[in-house]
Amino acid sequence: MANRQLFLSLLSLCLLFSSGVMSAKFTLVNQCSYTVWPGILSGAGTPQLSTTGFALQPGQSNSIPVPPSWSGRLWGRTLCNQDPTGKFTCVTGDCGSGTLECAGAGAVPPATLAEFTLNGAGGLDFYDVSLVDGYNLPMLVVPQGGSGGNCTATGCVVELNGACPSELKVTNSVDGGEIVACKSACEAFGDPKYCCSGAYATPDTCKPSSYSQYFKNACPRAYSYAYDDGTSTFTCASADYIISFCPIPAASQKSSGGQLPVTSNVSYSSSATANLSHTSLHFIAILAAIWQLL
Ligand SMILES: *[C@@H]1O[C@H](CO)[C@@H](O)[C@H](O)[C@H]1NC(C)=O
Ligand SMILES: *[C@@H]1O[C@H](CO)[C@@H](O)[C@H](O)[C@H]1NC(C)=O
Ligand SMILES: *[C@@H]1O[C@H](CO)[C@@H](O)[C@H](O)[C@H]1NC(C)=O
Repeated sequence: MANRQLFLSLLSLCLLFSSGVMSAKFTLVNQCSYTVWPGILSGAGTPQLSTTGFALQPGQSNSIPVPPSWSGRLWGRTLCNQDPTGKFTCVTGDCGSGTLECAGAGAVPPATLAEFTLNGAGGLDFYDVSLVDGYNLPMLVVPQGGSGGNCTATGCVVELNGACPSELKVTNSVDGGEIVACKSACEAFGDPKYCCSGAYATPDTCKPSSYSQYFKNACPRAYSYAYDDGTSTFTCASADYIISFCPIPAASQKSSGGQLPVTSNVSYSSSATANLSHTSLHFIAILAAIWQLL
């Protein structure tokens, strides 16, 4: 515990010195054992970023400047391929553009989403990691150098595909059965009760279902159903953001075992300290965030 506090204080100090003041920046980091193709969709009325889709090899990161007041979402596409005609498609998170860039197209569910509204009400950034459109891979959002609000890491850091309820499972038709994503109950059944639509379109009538509870139990800070704002929207002023795919190395394997990974503080802290000298500030910030989330 004492070690952890000392570590976090040093970390805050480092982040203080490294914090940018001018424009915001997203740093996307791929800690998965496989390639991830991030997709980026700007909200209506906000500018496109310099890229809307690219490949990120395992261990790679890429920083993208973000204009003030930007809003939109980011996600990870997996198992992507280009066919002989040059058409680019992905087994999960595909945006249907047929190219590496999503160019204004959003993710086809199921996909884990990181959602942002920068400089919103009160000058605060609002952000969340959402499983409302299902889940395809672990994602973590770590604010850096920001202040105010409840400026803390959020995300779903565990691998959920293996333990996805069978009614919600998505398997890879190409390789014959690997579980590659987990649908939301709304997408799987189209029932207004799960979609918070029709007669269920208010917070009073739309309650968490056993399915959304499955996501919520595994990932308490992630947005799990339409009216989950209170526990899953975070705010921060003047921050940069690290967006990590598969922040926990153990969760990056696409296992099809039936169990959620067992998370233990001890094993993550020892692997974290063992690798400190090899990691950049980004990785240190990610490790610290995982500490808070587990
Ligand atoms: C974070 O702060 C916002 C704005 O004050 C609030 O709406 C939200 O419920 C808070 N989130 C959490 C997880 O406490
Ligand atoms: C992890 O740490 C939290 C408090 O930091 C503690 O409550 C929990 O029991 C720990 N879990 C394990 C598996 O050690
Ligand atoms: C940890 O360090 C070893 C080298 O000592 C390196 O091979 C490995 O990739 C590192 N792991 C991470 C997650 O950075």
